[in-house]
Amino acid sequence: MASALRQTAIAAIGLCYSSLPPMKIQSTASNFFRCSTRRYTHSFLTFTPPYSLRNAPFPPTLNAQTVSTITETVEEVVKLQVPLFERPPIFSTCSEDLLKWRKWAQDLANSVGSKYLEADGGPDSEDLLREIEWLLEDAVDEYSPNLATFEAPITLNMRTSVEDLYSLWSDRVEKRRPFQYIVGCSHWRDVVLSVQEGVLIPRPVTEELIEIAQKAIATDGSLATGVWADLGTGSGALAIGLAQLLDPEGHVVAVDLSHVALSIARYNVQRYELQARVEVRQGSWFLPLQDVNGKLAGVLSNPPYIPEDQIPGLQAEVGKHEPRLALNGGQEGIEDLLHLCRGCISALRSGGFLGFETNGERQADALADLLSCKSDSSFRDVQIIADYAGIPRFVTAFRC
Ligand SMILES: C[S@@+](CC[C@H](N)C(=O)[O-])C[C@H]1O[C@@H](n2cnc3c(N)ncnc32)[C@H](O)[C@@H]1O
Repeated sequence: MASALRQTAIAAIGLCYSSLPPMKIQSTASNFFRCSTRRYTHSFLTFTPPYSLRNAPFPPTLNAQTVSTITETVEEVVKLQVPLFERPPIFSTCSEDLLKWRKWAQDLANSVGSKYLEADGGPDSEDLLREIEWLLEDAVDEYSPNLATFEAPITLNMRTSVEDLYSLWSDRVEKRRPFQYIVGCSHWRDVVLSVQEGVLIPRPVTEELIEIAQKAIATDGSLATGVWADLGTGSGALAIGLAQLLDPEGHVVAVDLSHVALSIARYNVQRYELQARVEVRQGSWFLPLQDVNGKLAGVLSNPPYIPEDQIPGLQAEVGKHEPRLALNGGQEGIEDLLHLCRGCISALRSGGFLGFETNGERQADALADLLSCKSDSSFRDVQIIADYAGIPRFVTAFRC
């Protein structure tokens, strides 16, 4: 029941959160992953890469300047956030204090009414009231929604303190911090991915790209044993979904320009024990893939595709909190997609498959046009596929 409600609410607010049974995740040696981060780490929410990097030429010419721009780094630590539901219940509180928090949280949620919904399509009170219960399910060990009916106060074991719940909830309602960043995870297909600031929250619509890849593999079994690339992997969602589809010999290379995203992708790959199947590489689009150029069995990507001037009008949860690098598709929104299509001419092997998510309609048309008419017959079976909402969203093709 809770699961169905979560899914419905998510569809409504465009962010993915569902209630799947918590999977058993192997603990990692440390929650701190060392990684080489650029100086922009502190401001990654607003970072836009240099134009030259976003649109690096393909076939890539590895000139020294580009390489040093990519690798000019400062050693820093990305502090990874363990999803709330996976943390040990080392805090305790009295049920009366938790009920006091819940009343305060509900009052704050009710004060929102429909003002966010009307302003930018954000959550209304009803959505926020549901989220309070989900937050409690993740934060309280053996949470019962009927707490208020208990005759006597009880002691509850918690995964975070009640004080922390106050600050998390005021961030959620007043700062519009996305719920998934609050609880540190996002349910996507049958996995629960760790997410935090600096990485895009994977969307339900992107799940369809895995189904599309699955159908392509069904038409040509050799695709299941090859090397695939997930370009712009973010949390690692597509790479993990793909790895679960491929045969044991199959392999996925997950690429991202953002060190923060890559640290989180790596963490998620480890959480699902897929290190042998998914390799995470840093760099711009095809640049880190030179060793597999012309050999790829498939390329999937959900690149940034929002036109730059539309970003200020996005729902605050998205525009103010999700990384600009993951959203900004340049002036028309399509620049990265065009670059990826051109790149696939040399990156894919004969018979190789590509599947890209777009902003819909015009972008999908432009891409299909490029692949079918302006690529020297490099591709066949070019298709535009609608998402479940009926929007022509995905473009797919096979390399001739
Ligand atoms: C829309 S997000 C998609 C993330 C993930 N695939 C998903 O569907 O949830 C786009 C991703 O592309 C990455 N990106 C942006 N520019 C890039 C570039 N030049 N090379 C590689 N990755 C890039 C961003 O960091 C971001 O993680």
